[in-house]
Amino acid sequence: MADSAAIADAVERLLVGDVVAIPTETVYGLAADASNAEAVAQIYRTKGRPDFNPLIVHVPDHAAAERLAQFDDRASMLAFRFWPGPLTLVLPLQPDAPVAKAVTAGLPTIALRCPAHPVMQAVLRQSGLFLAAPSANRSGGISPTRAEHVARSFGDAMPLVLDAGPCAAGLESTIVAVRENGWQLLRPGPVTADEIAHLLGEPPLPVTEAKFEAPGQLASHYAPSKPVRLNVTEAVSDEWHIGYGGIAGDDNLSTEGDLAEAAAHLFDALHKADASAKKAIAITSIPDEGIGVAINDRLRRAAA
Ligand code: TXA
Ligand code: MG
Repeated sequence: MADSAAIADAVERLLVGDVVAIPTETVYGLAADASNAEAVAQIYRTKGRPDFNPLIVHVPDHAAAERLAQFDDRASMLAFRFWPGPLTLVLPLQPDAPVAKAVTAGLPTIALRCPAHPVMQAVLRQSGLFLAAPSANRSGGISPTRAEHVARSFGDAMPLVLDAGPCAAGLESTIVAVRENGWQLLRPGPVTADEIAHLLGEPPLPVTEAKFEAPGQLASHYAPSKPVRLNVTEAVSDEWHIGYGGIAGDDNLSTEGDLAEAAAHLFDALHKADASAKKAIAITSIPDEGIGVAINDRLRRAAA
């Protein structure tokens, strides 16, 4: 339970360099002091994450974020409009930013997010730390939207988990890189590309670099241990069928056909499907609009 005693315990552990799993409005994060190289190394070890994959740093507010990154007018507009909330900004790193080298994996930029969840906010404020936190799952696996998912992913190696129930958004934050000549969508999420284009007054630049910057964008990610088949109206007998709307399935992301509800249920449905007795997973098609774009992004990678 994430009551005040549990939060105080988590803060104490973070201050001495331990890792703690903390709920956010998107997914549970595996958090540690971003300025402590040993604590950051512990995140990479616990996740089994390749060390060229940089971490998102969580901040309590925009003012704190300015100690870590350089905000131009567009970056400030985005922060003003969407923080606290499920948007991560990739911005030029401040030269004297108090973060361990491994956090940014040597990039000249840093990914920052100001989360809205009251438990994460309480931990940030009471610790006074900047918290590096990737999703609290083993690298490449299904993201955690419940404390049980964190336990399932780490088993015996499980860190302390602040349990605040299911995450409201259920999909990782939208990642936007603000570049000199425009902006790029590095990962679709709860804040849509249309909302950002509307605010900034221009469409995104294409993401062309062959070198990946956001491994959440690697072809295979968010992957269950079983084969996944997409756009399935009728499953075969050895498949666990995740339905949507009128297509019932063994489980249903949203019988009402509500995309926000489907996003909130997606990772829990994948965890359940993975734990079922069936050999494979089949998933009904999801409309590719609004947050459905982010759902389909995760599904393609889960199936790759
Ligand atoms: O909703 C979220 O963003 C969750 C919660 C815990 O806040 N966190 C999360 O972290 O999804 P993670 O580590 O699973 O995904 C972070 C993504 C990675 O794909 C990483 O490559 C990218 O952010 N990233 C981090 N720093 C970057 C940078 N400087 N430039 C480009 N991409 C970066
Ligand atoms: Mg992740």
